[in-house]
Amino acid sequence: MGDRDEVPSDGASNDESSQSPPASFVEQANVDEDLTDTFERTWPECWDRAGELLEWDDPYATVLDDENPPFYRWFPGGTLNASYNCLDRHLESGRKNHAAIRWEGKDGERRTFTYRELYVEVNECAAALRELGVQEDDVVTIYLPMIPELPITMLACARIGAPHSVVFAGLSAAALATRMDAADSEYLLTCDGYYRRGDAFNQKSKADNAVLSVDANVTTVVVDRLGDELPHVLGSNEYDYEALLEAHSQETVEPVSRDADDMLFLMYTSGTTGEPKGVVHSTGGYLAYAAWTARTVLDIKPEDTYWCAADIGWITGHSYIVYGPLALGTTTVMYEGTPDYPDRDRLWEIVERMAVDVFYTAPTAVRAFMKWGKQYPERHDLSSLRLLGSVGEPINPRAWHWYREHVGGGECPIVDTWWQTETGGIAISTVPGVDEMKPGSAGPPLPGIQVDLLDSDATAVDPGETGYLTLERPWPGMAETLYDDDERYVAEYWRQFSDPDAGEWRYASGDAARADEDGYLTILGRVDDVLNIAGHQVSTMELESAIAGVEGIAEAAVVGGSNGGDVYAYVSTEGATDDGDALERRIIEAVETEIGPIARPETVVFTPELPKTRSGKIMRRLLEDVTNDEPLGDTSALRNPEIVGEIQSAVRDQ
Ligand code: WT7
Repeated sequence: MGDRDEVPSDGASNDESSQSPPASFVEQANVDEDLTDTFERTWPECWDRAGELLEWDDPYATVLDDENPPFYRWFPGGTLNASYNCLDRHLESGRKNHAAIRWEGKDGERRTFTYRELYVEVNECAAALRELGVQEDDVVTIYLPMIPELPITMLACARIGAPHSVVFAGLSAAALATRMDAADSEYLLTCDGYYRRGDAFNQKSKADNAVLSVDANVTTVVVDRLGDELPHVLGSNEYDYEALLEAHSQETVEPVSRDADDMLFLMYTSGTTGEPKGVVHSTGGYLAYAAWTARTVLDIKPEDTYWCAADIGWITGHSYIVYGPLALGTTTVMYEGTPDYPDRDRLWEIVERMAVDVFYTAPTAVRAFMKWGKQYPERHDLSSLRLLGSVGEPINPRAWHWYREHVGGGECPIVDTWWQTETGGIAISTVPGVDEMKPGSAGPPLPGIQVDLLDSDATAVDPGETGYLTLERPWPGMAETLYDDDERYVAEYWRQFSDPDAGEWRYASGDAARADEDGYLTILGRVDDVLNIAGHQVSTMELESAIAGVEGIAEAAVVGGSNGGDVYAYVSTEGATDDGDALERRIIEAVETEIGPIARPETVVFTPELPKTRSGKIMRRLLEDVTNDEPLGDTSALRNPEIVGEIQSAVRDQ
């Protein structure tokens, strides 16, 4: 068993110091028995446990219809409404005055919606959308930042059976137009503008530009977020959100009963290449899985105050800010701002004030907290926290230990949750009241999920070896298809490892991973993020994790030089670097010991920040261009474009 005070040396693999969940956590955990065998024996009926978390209008006949793989139908015959499951039923169970959403604005504005208040506004909004002509199955595009109207409009769409397609507010007009066209969407819900750090952004002008180039004749609803600060004029076919709601004050709308496999929403993946993929999620399977995983992995209870610090514009926010938590009747926190505004303790101030029980964020945020230093969390009493979560990338052991020690008080279990837009919910993670944690490893697949790591001939690889991460069985949260493109769905995710003639179907995640002897999985990242160094395959994530394990390093990105072999490491440090040479030597040493001398970086470039997309992913393609002195491709997705020039001159100085 590991000693939590000892911060071990880092690496891409787990640090071998497995840790049991604290007894105080186990005692109160939603799930405290290992369900793996039960699920194994009773699969697929085991998923009834997820279905049971919902209230159905008509009960489902069976759990799974697998007649036409890979187009699986979960809970066939069942009908339900997602907004009913997230709202109405909690009113009936005596929770009407319990807080559903606690919203925290960027400048300290606060709004709380009880379940009753949320219900009222969602109904008014649903009535307004109907009046505008939205019918069942019409795709409604939502282009809103982190304001309460975002989940409200999502739930209003769900109430009338109109699938929503939320487009992250930071994406461009062109990206919005592509997504609206691809989904034949004729309705757009947006706002005048919003604040980010100190600046007011004009969202409406981006929306206007998009609407101009969209094929359909679009009806737009505008939320007035900025008031006099950003006056706007409504054109024809444009409506003011507030006025619409007033016109439908106190109206209620009967929730539309949807088939379990009717589309609840569509989410375009943030793919950096090719046409965006419109991932389709179902009403029954998706909602059941979001609720079950939120309960099992995030341990959410109705009386909790739960905070997932992601943006609802991505799948994480859909499943674990909106649908999962609200289906469970808990209080979900929604934060509009950034973690460092007005100061770097903003998140911890909120955790303390709201007495947050469960906190879920991304490793990139944890590494930023590390870089800023422990004095920020130390300013606050974080003892309300019971569980911490991580999602989006591997969390390297050093960041894991820092998170546990300085945010989790050395006590909170951490769940490192692996999943994807396409999986709908968490697929690999420890169950926090049951499984031991191994820092650096996401853990075993959840009960009912079967992961196989394969080589390119579809043969299973041995423990310790790297393989393609594939899922052998369907699960309720899985995507149903890509919008209007069944063929591409099969081609992108199923063709590679399936053998249709033998009736064998297997989902290819596109990630590479390695298992240890206990079946704990270390995710190595996208299979295409592999460097070929002198004929050896080295995972970029593995290299980056080794570098980020060095004391003083906040974050690293590695790319290969075009001359075939040289590794360039781009590194940001915690605080100021006084001795770059010594740090560089430690980086090289770490790579040599953790991976091997062949992977030794030729060049180490220190930079205050790495270039990142708005969804927080490091933009390696850009670093490749800089490394190879190529013209820079499209940089419109960058959150911090100002850093590029600095990195370019640092490379030239090498
Ligand atoms: C990709 C999916 C799922 C919500 C956020 C991103 C990477 C996700 C982990 C993790 C290592 C992870 C994978 C995956 N990823 N979680 N715990 N450890 N890698 O959704 O944009 O669809 O991205 O994020 O590479 O394939 P997404």
